[in-house]
Amino acid sequence: MNNNAFLKNESALFDIQELGDSRGALAVVESMKNIPFDVKRVFYIYGTAEGIRRGFHAHHKTRQVLISVSGNCKVHLDNTKRKKEVLLDHPTKALLLEPNDWHEMYDFSPDCVLLVLASELYQAEDYIRDYDQFIEVYGS
Ligand code: TYD
Repeated sequence: MNNNAFLKNESALFDIQELGDSRGALAVVESMKNIPFDVKRVFYIYGTAEGIRRGFHAHHKTRQVLISVSGNCKVHLDNTKRKKEVLLDHPTKALLLEPNDWHEMYDFSPDCVLLVLASELYQAEDYIRDYDQFIEVYGS
């Protein structure tokens, strides 16, 4: 793990090193090297229609890394103590998204491909989709 800037339970933007040469660019994500978990699942969101906002949930356990590998989008984060907006607009810009952040993704460019690396397999029970329940679990 060569990135010790990650704090427990605190989502954070971080840079992925670009390995470029005359042929173009390449970026690498390796479990427990430049991200702080083992990747069990990968999914990607693309072809998002204009004006769409998605997400609207937090998790009990799942940690994620979000990278807009093409185009750009914004992510609204809310951990009950702070709210912020993050812009993902480059393949070397990554967001470590901790389970305690309610998140919504929006303003997708038509070419946006949002890559998501997750620490857990898909389990519907790991999602908190009700905002009041989210406050009960993570508030105070
Ligand atoms: P959903 O969680 O609603 O997407 P978002 O939070 O980005 O708005 O997921 C859409 C559908 O895909 C939903 O029926 C659950 C399913 N799904 C899986 O089966 N596996 C997965 O890994 C993910 C992320 C979603």
